[in-house]
Amino acid sequence: MTDSPLSQLPEQKSALLAQVASLASLDDLRDAEPFITGKRSVLTGLQKSLGALEPDDRKAAGALLQEARREVEKALEAKRAELTAAARLVALEIDRLDLGDVVVSNVRLPLAVGHPGLVGSTQRELEDVFVGMGFTVADGPEVESDWYNFEALNIPPAHPSRGMWDTFYVELGEPETVVLRTHTSPTQIHLMEEAVANQSLPIHSVMPGRCYRRDTPDARHLATFHQIEGLVVDRGITFADLAGVIETFTHAYFGSDIESRLRPAYFPFTEPSAEFEITCTICRGDGCRTCSQTGWIELGGCGMLDPAVLEAVGIDSDEWSGFAFGFGIERCGQMRHQIADMRALIENDVRFLRQFS
Ligand code: FA5
Repeated sequence: MTDSPLSQLPEQKSALLAQVASLASLDDLRDAEPFITGKRSVLTGLQKSLGALEPDDRKAAGALLQEARREVEKALEAKRAELTAAARLVALEIDRLDLGDVVVSNVRLPLAVGHPGLVGSTQRELEDVFVGMGFTVADGPEVESDWYNFEALNIPPAHPSRGMWDTFYVELGEPETVVLRTHTSPTQIHLMEEAVANQSLPIHSVMPGRCYRRDTPDARHLATFHQIEGLVVDRGITFADLAGVIETFTHAYFGSDIESRLRPAYFPFTEPSAEFEITCTICRGDGCRTCSQTGWIELGGCGMLDPAVLEAVGIDSDEWSGFAFGFGIERCGQMRHQIADMRALIENDVRFLRQFS
């Protein structure tokens, strides 16, 4: 086949394979393809020249040409796959999210699962106990005017009890002083005003929420803590009702082996007033650092609603009477779970929190 148009086929095929191997990009491949296997390629030119051959020679030459074309096409497709994969890698690199020092990879770091805080769960348990006793749960603002936090509760500007309830001031003076509430007792005023406006007396409600004081944190105090206020306004309510509710609560929440007592006290908005205490659950009454060696822990204040407070919101104190109480939520949780230092409740150490369900 020296005179055959295919006499140079092996060299031509090698040249085409070398050209394929040298292609450096998909763009190069696209430009070169017509000259390698397409209409303008040497292979297509040879195909056309086969027509001039004798039938027997044409058949043999055709078979050789077909084989050479298959080989070149195969090499071209392999090159196309290689260049496509390389182009995808380059695109990924360009699109990669740059998060500074964070290494973005396919490795998924396990997410640490936390644990519910003890303050929230204590609040829900306390609400449950009171709902079981027939109380509804209400809410009140954490940022209060001086009037709601103090004056409406019989605490005028120069009253000495303002000292122990000093707080953080949001606004001083004109048009009015605004504070972070020191107790949940202002919610009593909001609830009574609402009930008068809606003519919806009586009231049997508890109002949990966050409070703030200028207190130095120690084993029994925090500067931000929670209280649950209780308010009953109804006909014929006496101190015996208050004592009964507190006794029932103590046994329901702490169990029947915990002793409680009401100690005479003073609050400007209740008369008579008392402090509600239980046996210290850390030392079982022997005296320890948590209870300042007294054997008792104060959980809250309580008392009969002062008629002056009722009258100030427009409730006839001859027809209606009532009582109120305010317990510390952290103190209740602390005593229930025998935690010697209240500050552990807000450290959010999951090793501590996992001890409680
Ligand atoms: C009061 O706040 C009154 N408003 C309670 C009250 C309500 C009396 C209704 C009469 C009628 P006192 O300041 O004692 O009272 O606080 C009540 C409880 O809140 C305390 O016994 C304690 O359990 C909790 N408490 C008070 N200060 C802190 C504090 N800094 N950290 C944690 N708990 C506190």
